[in-house]
Amino acid sequence: MHDDVDRVLFSRDAIAARVAELGQAIADDLDALADHPTEVMLVPVLTGSMVFVADLIRHLPHKLRIGVMSVSSYPGRSIESKGALIRGGLPDDLAGKHVLIVDDILDTGQTLTLVRDIIAEQRPAEVRTCVLLRKDREQARSFPVDYVGFDIPDEFVVGYGLDYNDYYRNLPDIVTLRTEALR
Ligand code: XMP
Repeated sequence: MHDDVDRVLFSRDAIAARVAELGQAIADDLDALADHPTEVMLVPVLTGSMVFVADLIRHLPHKLRIGVMSVSSYPGRSIESKGALIRGGLPDDLAGKHVLIVDDILDTGQTLTLVRDIIAEQRPAEVRTCVLLRKDREQARSFPVDYVGFDIPDEFVVGYGLDYNDYYRNLPDIVTLRTEALR
């Protein structure tokens, strides 16, 4: 295990099992749309969701497209949200589509609010949201989200795509860090 890790919240095996379940739930809902000629567009919110979305889409055998967006809210060495800012991307052909926004973690809800509102301006047929993690805090609990992987304590976590100052995204487990590593 990496020296900076304090404890493992979810092992790679637990994540894989839960992502498979989430994929199945989303796939079942997409199947229910099968009679509709409407296209499905996944919108991963980068950079944190990159590992999650790579695993998730391989549980979705449907015809779908992917249009990434880049949003930052924890720039550099922050462990508190500095407010969501769109850094790039945003697919511009979402009118009439079924959109699924995929993010790594729901914390204050600012990122999903921003992304959802911007996407809604294009008048998609429907917008759903999927997060791998949801923190145990009022703003996160009250945000309407369609698919949640795991509920976690209100702690800063890294690994499986999540970072601190852009490090630790490559850790296969979701972990907390030792205080000394958060400098
Ligand atoms: P909001 O507050 O907008 O947060 O719901 C969503 C974005 O903030 C980042 N975030 C974290 N990143 N460990 C991280 O590595 C965390 O514990 C954490 N909490 C929030 C993340 O980019 C997410 O998309």
